[in-house]
Amino acid sequence: MQEKNTNFFITTPLYYVNDKPHLGHFYTTVLGDVLARYKKEQGFNTFFSTGVDEHGNKIDNAAKKAGQSPQAFSDKISSQFIDIWQRLNINYSDFIRTTGDKHKKSVFYFLKQLKNKDYLYEGIYKGLYCEGCETFIQETELDEKGFCPNHNKKPENIKEKNWFFKLSVFQEKLILLIKNNKLKIEPDARKKEVLGFLKQGLKDISISRESVKWGIPLPWDKSQITYVWIEALINYLTALDYPWEKKIQISNYKLQKYWPADIHLIAKDILKFHAIIWPAMLLAIGLDLPKKIFAHGFFTINGHKMSKTLGNVITPEELVDKFGVDGARYAVLAEIIADKDTDISWEKLENRYNNDLKNNIGNSFSRLIVLAQKNNIKEFNCFVSKNIKVIINEITKNFNTQINNINIFLAIQETQKLFNFLNSYLDQTKPWQEKDTEKNKETLTNSFNILFHAAELLKIIMPEKTKIILKIKKGNKLITPEKNIHLF
Ligand code: MSP
Repeated sequence: MQEKNTNFFITTPLYYVNDKPHLGHFYTTVLGDVLARYKKEQGFNTFFSTGVDEHGNKIDNAAKKAGQSPQAFSDKISSQFIDIWQRLNINYSDFIRTTGDKHKKSVFYFLKQLKNKDYLYEGIYKGLYCEGCETFIQETELDEKGFCPNHNKKPENIKEKNWFFKLSVFQEKLILLIKNNKLKIEPDARKKEVLGFLKQGLKDISISRESVKWGIPLPWDKSQITYVWIEALINYLTALDYPWEKKIQISNYKLQKYWPADIHLIAKDILKFHAIIWPAMLLAIGLDLPKKIFAHGFFTINGHKMSKTLGNVITPEELVDKFGVDGARYAVLAEIIADKDTDISWEKLENRYNNDLKNNIGNSFSRLIVLAQKNNIKEFNCFVSKNIKVIINEITKNFNTQINNINIFLAIQETQKLFNFLNSYLDQTKPWQEKDTEKNKETLTNSFNILFHAAELLKIIMPEKTKIILKIKKGNKLITPEKNIHLF
């Protein structure tokens, strides 16, 4: 059996398919992709899951509006997610669709466990429900108009028979686990938020809906549809082929290998579901808790919430069309600060693309190729002057720390330092003026070392462009292209 600590499992939320993918979905997904690639580079067996959330009234109503069946509508939007992730080089291990049979089986099994262990009971739910959030909402959470503050809409008043989960019994246990970092919640402000919420007391929650039609029925009561959030959370086990099936060899059983998840990546909007409800569900059936929940901030566009009504939605498609695949991945990751809320704009993304990629990386690369051609450098020995090695090592160390802290934008800034250093090193040594060929050889060897090193670091962020850079290095040979290459 493999040791768990050589394995790494990272997840993104399942995105609702009520509309096409946008920048919010792209950011979390590319962040997950980069962290998974990083761990793979470090020698871990990685499993990266993402997918779509296809059930519930929110989707059913979006389908009705489009004049389609919910399944046809979900099929259409799900394939838009799959296509754009493929285009953006998102290297997921599994893409979960909640309408899939695999998921249904996993949900059935999980719910039966909850029931057998006596954590479920029947009751009447009376209260408010916000369809936008797909969540039961308290009166105290509404704004002064009585609207859901997230969706600016009046919630529905519902009274219906539901099945309930005994969430309240887990309050103290969760407080302890979170306080002691057995369940890490990051950044720290989010941990405090969850603890604050837990201290107010937990109420049992409804896990099924009577009036909803589009979803997975409860295995023992077909008149009830599983509450969309409850089934969506179970996807993290579906991805690992939960439940156990005898026909799968134990050594191939993904749950054995990858559970508990190392990181559930989410944004702060869905913190309570992941940091309270999901861990309680796992405690109830006796599965280990995820090691870490990382909730990044929210972003606004030019100071406004991204919304269709305002017409300011940025889509991943538009980003690729403008910046190319690697350019889009880089600009978004460099511009958004994971542990805070960030305001972004097309202008900021364009500046980032022009300054960092076109000017800094692209120009350094072209400049070096021209110099290598002029000086006829064919050999590339790995000698790097001592002081340069120190700088490279320091930057690499910082880069690793920042990635491990999920501060990708700071890790990216470290790589920019390498390019800044390279440019000032060239400006100082001026190999284009230097007549001494030995000296030039040394300068260029050093410079190529810096460039290749930066490309190695940036591989996880820009898999294709860095391939182009690293292609000119074959062992200790430098394969300088005949013509110059414009990377961006
Ligand atoms: N379907 C649920 C999640 C179920 S997970 C078991 C859901 N879906 S969602 O489509 O609304 O996606 C929410 C997630 O999308 C956020 O947690 C975040 O990852 C991403 N974002 C959507 N809009 C965003 C911003 N404006 N800013 C940052 N992230 C955003 O909730």
